[in-house]
Amino acid sequence: MLSKYELLDFKTLGDERGSLIAIEEGYNTPFEIKRVYYIFDTKEGIERGFHAHINLKQIAIAVKGSCTFVLDNGMKKDEMKLTNPNQGLLIEGLIWREMKDFSPDCVLVVIASEHYDEGDYIRDYDRFLEEVENGKN
Ligand code: TYD
Repeated sequence: MLSKYELLDFKTLGDERGSLIAIEEGYNTPFEIKRVYYIFDTKEGIERGFHAHINLKQIAIAVKGSCTFVLDNGMKKDEMKLTNPNQGLLIEGLIWREMKDFSPDCVLVVIASEHYDEGDYIRDYDRFLEEVENGKN
């Protein structure tokens, strides 16, 4: 699988009552949805993540508040701040991710292509770099 990350723009539907965004499998997600989880009440100064995945594809959406993703493909690091519920960060393939700067009100929803599987995690940075190298051959 090619590794990549990109921001997806979700269409905001709404009327005088407020806003609404719909995420529909195969329509505005590029994978089948097997799991949804959310991270909230993150304590001040906490950083999370520090891992990559072998097979998992994910879309992360700050549906409330904001947080910053550090994204590393083994060659370069990028930062993306999620501030808007109409933007989803799609992450596919071997990308080391860290999350930081959670606002106290941040609710980060993650839509995932697979059920939870600890065996899919790479939690060791050196192993991540090895996997990136192996993937180039
Ligand atoms: P982890 O993925 O390490 O969190 P983060 O990447 O945000 O730092 O998960 C934290 C703990 O929660 C870990 O013990 C595994 C568990 N967990 C599940 O049981 N199911 C899930 O879907 C997820 C994402 C985590």
